[in-house]
Amino acid sequence: MGDPVNERDQVTAALTVAAEEARRYLEDLDTRAVLDPGAEEVVHGWADPMPEDGDGTIVAVRELAARGQQVATRSSGPRFFHFVMGGGTPAGLAGDWLASAFDQVAFAWASSPMAARLEQVATDWLRQLFELPEEFGGVLTSGATMGNFVALAAARNWWAEQRGIDVERAGLSGLPAPPILSSGYIHPSALQAIGMLGLGQDNVERLASDAAGRLDADALEARLVELDGPAIVVANAGEVNSGDFDPIERMADLAAEHGAWLHVDGAFGLFARVAPEARGLAAGAERADSVGADGHKWLNVPYDCGFAFVRDGTMLRESFSASGAYIAPAGGWDPHTHVPEMSRRFRGLAAWCALKSFGREGYRAVVERCVDNAAAFAAWVETTPGLELMNPAPLNIVCFRLTADDLADEEIDRINREAVSAIQADGRAFVTGTTWTGRAAIRAAFDNWRTSAADVELLQDAVMDVRAGLLPAH
Ligand SMILES: Cc1ncc(COP(=O)(O)O)c(C=O)c1O
Repeated sequence: MGDPVNERDQVTAALTVAAEEARRYLEDLDTRAVLDPGAEEVVHGWADPMPEDGDGTIVAVRELAARGQQVATRSSGPRFFHFVMGGGTPAGLAGDWLASAFDQVAFAWASSPMAARLEQVATDWLRQLFELPEEFGGVLTSGATMGNFVALAAARNWWAEQRGIDVERAGLSGLPAPPILSSGYIHPSALQAIGMLGLGQDNVERLASDAAGRLDADALEARLVELDGPAIVVANAGEVNSGDFDPIERMADLAAEHGAWLHVDGAFGLFARVAPEARGLAAGAERADSVGADGHKWLNVPYDCGFAFVRDGTMLRESFSASGAYIAPAGGWDPHTHVPEMSRRFRGLAAWCALKSFGREGYRAVVERCVDNAAAFAAWVETTPGLELMNPAPLNIVCFRLTADDLADEEIDRINREAVSAIQADGRAFVTGTTWTGRAAIRAAFDNWRTSAADVELLQDAVMDVRAGLLPAH
């Protein structure tokens, strides 16, 4: 390849190849199988030696693109109902590309006034989109796990302050176990955040009234009365298997009455507030002390993007204090004081571009279409013999399973586990396997902006074909 500095002249050629390959990849996203058969085998076979002499820019980019076209999981496509994933909107994708081209470090005003200001503007647009009060401070994160982490860091600091401790300086030792109260709907990422913050996952009390994990609000009230002191309450705006919600309004009432910190994990469910028909599900989030959510889910910006809001913006700003002579404030907003990283990607650009392009009305249409798709699929499950809806689907996730009257539950569990792999192998649609109230189940999440009614029909066809293959005599 010669002297790397000569590759300077390859920038335009590299971007031209990348744009053409990206165009080719996205062109058949609507029609191609989610994962090509044999893709995993090919990927397992990648064991390239570390190059001693590089192949040069264009060879490297072309080879990478060729591999990607063959084996990438088309998770940004409209029939990827696995996990809870969006796809990049055109403006979100272009914004993300420009974030790499501009290569701003969204660390502080000093490193890039543009990155700091646009992140501030984009976060405030998000606050307005969700109709959260003006006093809320916000920041972008890598996802909802870190959104929960950032928000719960503020909760932790508040809780320790009630006991006269500056936890960032003094640490948690010497403090009692913090009471953290939630329902059985709490997401693993919130537990992960609680663990990382030193709050102790074992201190989380899941106050559930049934096997699904629905909140026992009376038990929450009784526990808050018993504690008679500061506690952290985590409300779940959207349970990942069923899309069901905790009663946030009731939890907000109880938190207010007993002086508790209310955190809402709204990774995808916060978007219910964007659509009038679904808004009631997430009512009460505006009364929370903190909220965490995701951009790469329903905002449909490319990975990665999440965000956190904290009602008392000062607490958010003071959650991750770092100072040093060379990182002195430079006259504008410094995102790094709100998050655990210093150097960070310019995520605000994709978020800003996506919001600028669709606006409130556009996102309302996106959310409404997804909710309608989920409702249509759930109604189809309910009325199709041989299928069972495991839980009402209030928003965008449908939890269901294949059934047969004459088979034992254990056998049906086994068949459903096989069905998930069979649907994925079929390639028309991707779904996730899960367990719901102790039984194997399948879940489909609807939050991709391009999913149409025709895509939902393809999912239905795939489910019925797989059922016919696994249960031919039923
Ligand atoms: C309710 C909830 N919270 C948090 C997360 C974690 O989000 P992320 O993967 O963006 O960190 C998810 C992911 O599905 C979720 O559904």
